[in-house]
Amino acid sequence: MPNFDIVSSFQDQAWLADKKEKLDRKMRYAVEKARQTPWIPYTTDGKNWKENRIGWWTNGFWPANMWQMYRMTGAEIYREEALRAETMLDEALRDFKNLSHDVGFMWLIQSGVRYALEKNQESYDRTLFAAETLAGRYNSNGFIRAWNGQGREGWAIVDCMMNLPLLYWATEETGDPRFRQIAMKHADTTIAHFVRPDGSCNHIVIFDAETGEFLDNPGGQGYESGSSWSRGQSWALYGFVLSYLHTGAQRYLDTAKRVANYFISQIADDWMPRCDFRQPAEPNLKDNVAGNVAACGLLELARALPELEGKFYFDAAIRILKAQEADAADWKLEDPAIFQKCTSAWHDEPGRHITMTYGDYYFIEAINKLSGDPLLFWYPNK
Ligand code: GLY
Repeated sequence: MPNFDIVSSFQDQAWLADKKEKLDRKMRYAVEKARQTPWIPYTTDGKNWKENRIGWWTNGFWPANMWQMYRMTGAEIYREEALRAETMLDEALRDFKNLSHDVGFMWLIQSGVRYALEKNQESYDRTLFAAETLAGRYNSNGFIRAWNGQGREGWAIVDCMMNLPLLYWATEETGDPRFRQIAMKHADTTIAHFVRPDGSCNHIVIFDAETGEFLDNPGGQGYESGSSWSRGQSWALYGFVLSYLHTGAQRYLDTAKRVANYFISQIADDWMPRCDFRQPAEPNLKDNVAGNVAACGLLELARALPELEGKFYFDAAIRILKAQEADAADWKLEDPAIFQKCTSAWHDEPGRHITMTYGDYYFIEAINKLSGDPLLFWYPNK
């Protein structure tokens, strides 16, 4: 039986055309606003991009937004802005000791993509350097260290599943299996210690850095220990699909389905993920990033499965995209960002229902997927 085809199955071409037109208008405005600042965009104050430091982990998403828009429109303005941000990010690359596990988000989806499209040596070098940095964070007890700082030597987080494609890329480019081996060890540890039997996930797991013994699972950006931070669930969902696509290992596909089934079961009322699926009823905090990441993961999951099974995940992805867009997308040319209900962390009050470039990123990625784009950004050498 053939795999599910997300492009021919998407019937609502008017919706798609409308979103592309709105995205091009809004993103041109966002670029104009970005060029008035010396920093890489992350979040807004309702009118302008706010100041942002160069080492901030989301900074690859802005140039990745530009490459997605370039794929969508072919407009040179987006490519130019991507290159401007890529060059700015060299300052963060030089300061490598302050980088975290998030180097995949920072370089694969922009320098890695540029290299795939243009074969320029500088972008290749940046991406491989980032991969070496990520591999260097591996603890031989089977996990990649997440953050820096004394006392955090044994901390791993579920978000790292989305940085593993950088390691798969490095093996595919260089032929050296070490990168893929590290990625698979980390993915296996994530199955063993993060993903619970019901498909929900821990955000953080703290291991003894010397012995690898499990020590604790604090709530992290979610509500509390044992709760279910929706963005963490979406990182696991998409991350396991990507590990399956890069390795062909069935256990990663099975885990992606387990997390996806749980995710869908938590949002089937209105298709808009709360910040934490186990948060109190009030405040009713949403997280548009979780929804858009999950939608991209569900679309790739659908593409990896036979028709009937794929359709189930495809339908869920479309419902999420449409529900969140109707509820929280701002297409006016005032705020340069689109999605207005992104939440940084449940306990971070100023970070509730704000804008984030990566919330917008995954919506654009989903629109390009529905228009026929291959999985370029997390798989640039495919
Ligand atoms: N910890 C990365 C995130 O906010 O998703």
